[in-house]
Amino acid sequence: MNKPKTALDIEKIRSDFPILNEAVNGKSLVYFDNAATTQKPSVVINALTDYYGHYNANIHRGLHALAEKATFAFENSRHSLQRFLNAALVEEIIFTYGTTDGINLVAQTFGRRFLGQGDEIIISTLEHHSNIVPWQMLCEERGCVLRVIPINEQGELRMDEYEKMLSERTKLVSVVHVSNSLGTINPVKTIIEKAHAVGAKVLIDGAQATSHMEVDVQALDCDFYVFSLHKLYGPTGLGVLYGKKAILDAMPPYRGGGEMIKEVTFEKTTYNDLPYKFEAGTPNIADVVAALTAVQYVDELGKTNMAAYENELLRYATEQLGDIDGLRIVGQAAEKISVVSFVLAGIHPQDIGTILDQQGIAIRTGHHCTQPLMNRLGLPSGTARASFAVYNTFAEIDKLVQGIRKVQKMML
Ligand SMILES: Cc1ncc(COP(=O)(O)O)c(C=O)c1O
Repeated sequence: MNKPKTALDIEKIRSDFPILNEAVNGKSLVYFDNAATTQKPSVVINALTDYYGHYNANIHRGLHALAEKATFAFENSRHSLQRFLNAALVEEIIFTYGTTDGINLVAQTFGRRFLGQGDEIIISTLEHHSNIVPWQMLCEERGCVLRVIPINEQGELRMDEYEKMLSERTKLVSVVHVSNSLGTINPVKTIIEKAHAVGAKVLIDGAQATSHMEVDVQALDCDFYVFSLHKLYGPTGLGVLYGKKAILDAMPPYRGGGEMIKEVTFEKTTYNDLPYKFEAGTPNIADVVAALTAVQYVDELGKTNMAAYENELLRYATEQLGDIDGLRIVGQAAEKISVVSFVLAGIHPQDIGTILDQQGIAIRTGHHCTQPLMNRLGLPSGTARASFAVYNTFAEIDKLVQGIRKVQKMML
């Protein structure tokens, strides 16, 4: 096909990611499992070794030079994430272990403090298990009720049904910004407005959104926004919880220990100010420091450029895969990011994944941690999912198409 028009130098970008030179099963790697985790550019890998090699020290407490340097880098990264989300205040940026950890933090603190018998929490059919189970655990303990927004055949939320669910009993709405299984982009701004109209707070699970679109938490007016750095070209084991200051201030702490306290006696402990109140113990310093380079890397490429290119990849993949007999794309939302979920008639998704892997093509198969969604779609074995990032190419999509034809030849 013709070379796509893009403002980005894709070959240069590819050279930034050393893992893309790896051979897998004797073939050059085609990495289409980006919704699970993205690969890391050299600048991020180098930031980790630089930290450990030159200024590793515990932060906030030490007075020596290394501790000061590490503390500065750590807090500088918090400032860059504040700008990244356009949060009003730097203390609204809480470091967590990831999206899952952020949601559990909100459930265990905000949820346990403010939700009780008969209060309702609204989630959606598209949710990842990490935005289902913490609320189920809370409901079990506190007697709250979980309600679920249904979807239509394209994999979009039924907004009419959502509106019917809202009432003065609704205390929290917690929905995914972008579905990891289908790629659907949810109308979160409208969801937030409608929830606020009945006095409910809103958490947005942005795990799949931050690498594909601009996120402005003030424009959205969400109460909480959570995401993981490892899906944004950054390190694993690190996430961000954004929360509005007034709400975070009213919430009790999550874990107890060092850093999150002002003063401790055996009789009574007073808690630290934001954001430290929610960051007990030695944090993930190296990964926080490296996160700054991931955010800079994405900023330099420009989200608009990235999204435009990834949309071209999505359009091409949808077209090419759509030409394969017996292949059905699952999830045809009008607003979608670069995720293509599909099933092949007569072939188990696991077999698709295994045979593609033999050809060096990494995709994800199964329920994608969205078992209730797969059951709703009548696909208990799940789907095969190819998810694209900025370093993927049209030629790689051609390889995927050839690979799928090979799967059919072998299995049918
Ligand atoms: C939509 C969504 N939410 C939550 C998560 C959980 O993220 P983590 O495992 O980084 O906590 C994922 C991970 O795939 C996801 O895609």
